[in-house]
Amino acid sequence: MLSKSQARMFFFGGTIFFSSIFILLTIDTLAKVDERQNVDLLTPSVIRGKEIWDSNNCMGCHTILGEGAYYAPELTQAVSRRGVQWLTIFLRDPAAMFPGQRRMVDYDFTDAQIEDVIAFLDWIGKIDTNGFPPEPDLRPPAAPVVASTATSASRPAYFDEVCVACHAVGGKGGGVGPALDGVAKRFSEEELHRWLADPPSVRPGTAMPNLNLPDSTRTELVRWLRTLE
Ligand code: HEC
Ligand code: HEC
Repeated sequence: MLSKSQARMFFFGGTIFFSSIFILLTIDTLAKVDERQNVDLLTPSVIRGKEIWDSNNCMGCHTILGEGAYYAPELTQAVSRRGVQWLTIFLRDPAAMFPGQRRMVDYDFTDAQIEDVIAFLDWIGKIDTNGFPPEPDLRPPAAPVVASTATSASRPAYFDEVCVACHAVGGKGGGVGPALDGVAKRFSEEELHRWLADPPSVRPGTAMPNLNLPDSTRTELVRWLRTLE
C-alpha cells in the first residue's frame, strides 16, 4: 500500500514525467515540419496547382495524404506511380487513358494548368510521410527487356511511362490494347510510324489515343517495336 504522500508523489511525478515526454515529442515534430514538407521546393507553379486543386474540389473524389473522399484513386504518389507524361495526357483528356470507362471529370485545363497540377502533385509526393500510403505501387512493373534477335534497340523509357498502361509485353502491362509481343510480324516499319503518328486517322473510332509523340520518340519506339518478333 502507498501512503497518502507516496501516492501524491506518484501522481505528480508520473504526470510531470509523461507530460515532458509529450512536450518534447511535440517540439521535435514541429521542428521537423519544414524539412519534411520540403518548403524550399514550393515554387509558384506548385502554389498555382494547389489553387487549381482547391477550386475544382478534386478532394470531392480523391485523397491526398489520406485526406479527402474515397471515390477515386489516392493521389499522394500519383507522379511516381504514373509519371509526368502519362499524367499530362490523362489530364488533357481523361477519356484517352480509360477508353469507354471514364469517370474522371474532363476539366479542359490549359497546358500551363496541367503543368501546375502535376507540379503540385509532385510536391505532395515528395513530402516525407513516413511511408504513407502503404499500398503497393500500382504501376505495372517494368517488363524485362525482351530478348531480340533483330537489333539491340533498347526498350524506350516512354514505353514504360505511357504505353505500358494499356499494352503488355512479355506478359506485363495493361490490357486496354492488345499485347505487343510479335507486333513486328503484324506491322511494317512504315505502318507502325503511321499508326503511332495518329491512330484515329488509320482506324477511325479506335480507343488508342493520339499521343502527339515527338518524331524522335516515335522513331525510337518504332525501332524497338520492330524487334518484337
Ligand atoms: C467526380 C469525381 C472526380 C473529381 C472531382 C476528380 N477526379 Fe480525378 N479521377 C476520378 C476517377 C474516377 C479516376 C480514375 C480514372 C477514371 O475512371 O477516369 C480519377 C483519376 C485521376 C488521376 C489518375 C490517377 C491514377 O493514378 O490513375 C489523376 C491524376 C486525377 N484523377 C487528378 C484529378 C485532379 C487534379 C482533380 C481536380 C482538378 C480531379 N482528379 C478531380 C474522379 C474524379
Ligand atoms: C489508352 C490506352 C492506350 C495507350 C496509352 C496506347 N495504346 Fe496502343 N493501342 C490501344 C488500343 C485500344 C489498341 C487497339 C486499337 C484498335 O484495334 O482499334 C492499340 C493498338 C496498338 C498497336 C497495334 C497493335 C496490334 O497488334 O493491332 C500498336 C503497335 C500500339 N498500340 C502501340 C502503342 C505504343 C507504342 C504506345 C505508346 C506510345 C501505345 N500504343 C499507347 C490502346 C493504347
